[in-house]
Amino acid sequence: MKFFADTADVDDIRELQEANLLDGVTTNPTLIGKSGRDFKEVVKEICGITSGPVSAEVVASAHEDMMKEAEILRKIADNVCIKVPLTIDGLKTCKKLRDDGTMVNVTLCFSANQALLAAKARASFISPFVGRLDDISLSGMELIADIRLIYDNYDFDTEILVASVRGPMHVLDAAKIGADVMTAPPSVIKQLSKHPLTDKGLESFAADWAKTGQSII
Ligand code: E4P
Repeated sequence: MKFFADTADVDDIRELQEANLLDGVTTNPTLIGKSGRDFKEVVKEICGITSGPVSAEVVASAHEDMMKEAEILRKIADNVCIKVPLTIDGLKTCKKLRDDGTMVNVTLCFSANQALLAAKARASFISPFVGRLDDISLSGMELIADIRLIYDNYDFDTEILVASVRGPMHVLDAAKIGADVMTAPPSVIKQLSKHPLTDKGLESFAADWAKTGQSII
């Protein structure tokens, strides 16, 4: 499963890249707002850190306007992936951009039928938001399993990008189902390395090592 970082924080992105834990980045208007930086500038900087897909979201709602925004965003770098919403206008934009060879991430997916439409529009990625479904007492992971089944039934190439990931269990469940990609905040990706027995083991090794009076350097 590929790991994308769901952030516009370039320091976090660099850190994950150094540990080879980064296959791409997703941003959205909220994350860009939080960064306090210019949208195009930050996308350009991120594209220089990773060679993987970097999702940059259009904010227009009409197809023609989405196309105008996409034209500007896709010129930033070769690895820009245009993010469009799961609406008919968004799907039209998706199809047009894919015909031109541009990567497209269809976002704000909350049902398997929506995911089916995105695959038919030849999306590179579909982003089902598991956390937001869980928030309203629906099962985000059931949706991922349904999409996996449907895409496999028809050999669709669209990659399932599990989004709105809130913790390690989402990552584990997505991997078990066979999702292609998950995108999570850097804090969640780092959390995956944590285990109390790892900490306990480190403490006891350090104490036993101190007793030897030796040093490696
Ligand atoms: C995905 O591309 C979205 O940016 C993101 O995963 C949304 O997550 P949230 O529901 O935590 O805002």
